[in-house]
Amino acid sequence: MKIEKSFLKVFSTIKKKNKSLELHEPFIDRKDLLTVTKALKNKHVAGKGNYTNKFEKKISKLTKSKYVISCSSGTSALHLALKYLEINSNDEVLVPAINFISTANAIIYCGGSPHFIDVSEKTLGVDTLKLSRYLNQIGKFQGGKIINKKTGKTIRAIIPMHTFGHPCEMDKINNLAKKFKIECVEDAAEGIGSFYKNKHVGTFGIMGILSFNGNKTITSGGGGAILTNQKSIEKKIRNLTNHSKIDHTWKYDYYDIGYNYRMPNINAALGCSQIDKAKFIIKNHRKIYEIYKKKFRDVKYGRIFKEPPGARSNYWLQTFLLNEDNYKLRNKILNTTNKSGIHTRPAWKLMSKIKHLKKFPKMNLSKSENLINRIINLPSSFNF
Ligand SMILES: Cc1ncc(COP(=O)(O)O)c(C=O)c1O
Repeated sequence: MKIEKSFLKVFSTIKKKNKSLELHEPFIDRKDLLTVTKALKNKHVAGKGNYTNKFEKKISKLTKSKYVISCSSGTSALHLALKYLEINSNDEVLVPAINFISTANAIIYCGGSPHFIDVSEKTLGVDTLKLSRYLNQIGKFQGGKIINKKTGKTIRAIIPMHTFGHPCEMDKINNLAKKFKIECVEDAAEGIGSFYKNKHVGTFGIMGILSFNGNKTITSGGGGAILTNQKSIEKKIRNLTNHSKIDHTWKYDYYDIGYNYRMPNINAALGCSQIDKAKFIIKNHRKIYEIYKKKFRDVKYGRIFKEPPGARSNYWLQTFLLNEDNYKLRNKILNTTNKSGIHTRPAWKLMSKIKHLKKFPKMNLSKSENLINRIINLPSSFNF
């Protein structure tokens, strides 16, 4: 049997007749409907209402982050985190090459340069050993900062990302950040409910961000959050989300340029009811992983990606990793499955190959280049 056909066969007992298998769809129940309706009935849809406050408290409880600032999206959260660090045109920010586009864009919004780094097959996140060697080779310390010898720019920050919900090695990344005097802002957009060494992702760096977009483990329709343990950061960023407005009952005045990046109350209402189900949803994601593992057990051309050592993943997006010599099968498998209503997809386009990002610095990306052609994301949100 052709491999793509055998791949399809795995789904024969999972897929219901005449129903497609979605990559990721939200889990919406009666409580979500009731909560959102309540917010609507109270006419508390935007600035008024207490759901944003409640949602932040619930996130804080789950992640154990001291402060949580809800935002309009994960992308706006990234933008504000980098604004807080005052990233500018003299700065470079290290980001994994296997990534969603927002991270690189947020750096560019601030005038900075993304600098693409390689990922490891073990975590699908930052390859710490390769990065350490690279920084030793390209960097020089000057005035307490690490300067890229090639570009003359300061390497100011790193944004590790927890790919498909799988935590990367945050202890090693933090050690590197400390050694090279760079700030660490974690992109935990995909990682709500994921833990690395029993600590929630997004709480290792100076700041971390989450996304509650419609495709994520729990959703607020659209939305994001910044996690931090520092009061001064919370104060400044909360103000930035609200146009940098000076707090006053009736007067309009502003400290500086600001943004309209607050999470509307109606979105937070959905977020509140969703976060109460986070454990249940993640339990289901982990069950889906076990089912795929079993079903693909005897397959010789690849494997289901398992959470890395030390990590407890939310398994947001299930991943099939083709063996190195089978990468050419990817498109055939994607075509066959999608034609049959099984919504698989490849990983993103490599950041360094996207038109507006080609000009930015990058290290040797051999591992990312190899991995990107071998990843197939599988339907990840069905119920049993
Ligand atoms: C890794 C990563 N970073 C950032 C974002 C941006 O989040 P949002 O869609 O909420 O703006 C996403 C996803 O949507 C993501 O997957």
